[in-house]
Amino acid sequence: MTLGLQWWITMATSLEKLCTIKQKLTFMARDLHKQHIESVVNEALSSANVNLQDLDAVAVTVKPGLALSLRVGLDYALKLVEKSGKPLIPIHHMEAHALTARMIQRIDFPFLVLLVSGGHCLLAVARGVSDFLLLGHGMDDSPGDAFDKTARQLKLKNLPQFAEVPGGVAIETLAKLGNPKAFAFPHVLTQTPNCHFSFAGIKFAAKRLIESEEISQDVSASSVLPNAADVCASFQFGVLQHLAKRVQRGLLFCELKGLLPETNKTLVVSGGVASNKFLRAGLVKVCDKYSCKVVCPPPKLCTDNGIMIAWNGMEKLLSQEDFAQDPENVDIQPRCPLGVDISEEVSNTALKLPRIKLLDT
Ligand code: KG4
Ligand code: ZN
Repeated sequence: MTLGLQWWITMATSLEKLCTIKQKLTFMARDLHKQHIESVVNEALSSANVNLQDLDAVAVTVKPGLALSLRVGLDYALKLVEKSGKPLIPIHHMEAHALTARMIQRIDFPFLVLLVSGGHCLLAVARGVSDFLLLGHGMDDSPGDAFDKTARQLKLKNLPQFAEVPGGVAIETLAKLGNPKAFAFPHVLTQTPNCHFSFAGIKFAAKRLIESEEISQDVSASSVLPNAADVCASFQFGVLQHLAKRVQRGLLFCELKGLLPETNKTLVVSGGVASNKFLRAGLVKVCDKYSCKVVCPPPKLCTDNGIMIAWNGMEKLLSQEDFAQDPENVDIQPRCPLGVDISEEVSNTALKLPRIKLLDT
């Protein structure tokens, strides 16, 4: 057997194993949903001191997401609707993320929204409760995945203070002690003048850097690099540079096309990665140049949560939009982009970006 053929067989076997693990995890997620959905709903009702008949409607996520988990939610919501006679409001997971900030403070439409999480990355203009223009979306790994895998590669969980925290939090904390210019990370998609995102290159660069630093510093299998803080700070700066360019182009595009108000422009940043204060501060620097304020929901509303679905249901209820006329015919949509995709128009506009200084030093 040639070495090449052997390599392919090994790869195929590993991929097969990975697919089986992924499949098992989706079944586990479905079972956990089934097991807990009733008690979670009952607990929410009793802590709000209301019963099913007191509700105005039942809102449920139907798109996008894991098919098996969406199905559990929809089936349960349909049961509640049948029992109560209340209307059903189907919710788009990303629309819900995008509008959560309106629960905290007044933000009028239209506004710009950046969603950065473990599952998605996108930049859009929110024009109404159910009206979005998609300027750009993730083309490969999500930013959250890049943070989590880099933290794992650095073995940050072996440090007691990071044993129980998400990878992104560990990197942000350690980065405060490091130099963001210690290592140069690749500038991503600089030749493509659009608002799409790519984190695979930054993630791979971090992996290569950690591997070579571990060899050159003779770090043992379970130890953490002595200069891990510099790696974290430089990685985080690499992520910021990429996000900042996309947001800057988004703002310029909106200015050119009159998509945002001339005064009182707002960028909402949401999703788990939006909890990162270093990234927020960098994005504020970009937005300041375009007289745009930055709003981030508090971390517990940035990450996936049920409140954002309820809030979105209420927004739709108040604007009388998107009620399911025939709940029995509502179905799940595991894949469903957000709004109207105008990313090609953004790309064709080929806007050049003036330089913005992202670091104070
Ligand atoms: O929105 P989210 O809770 O769920 C998914 O969409 O999956 O996002 C989770 C992601 C994780 O990858 C986590 O590491 C990342 O958000 N994250 C952070 C921070 N806090 C959570 N990333 C960077 N900096 C943080 N402070
Ligand atoms: Zn999410």
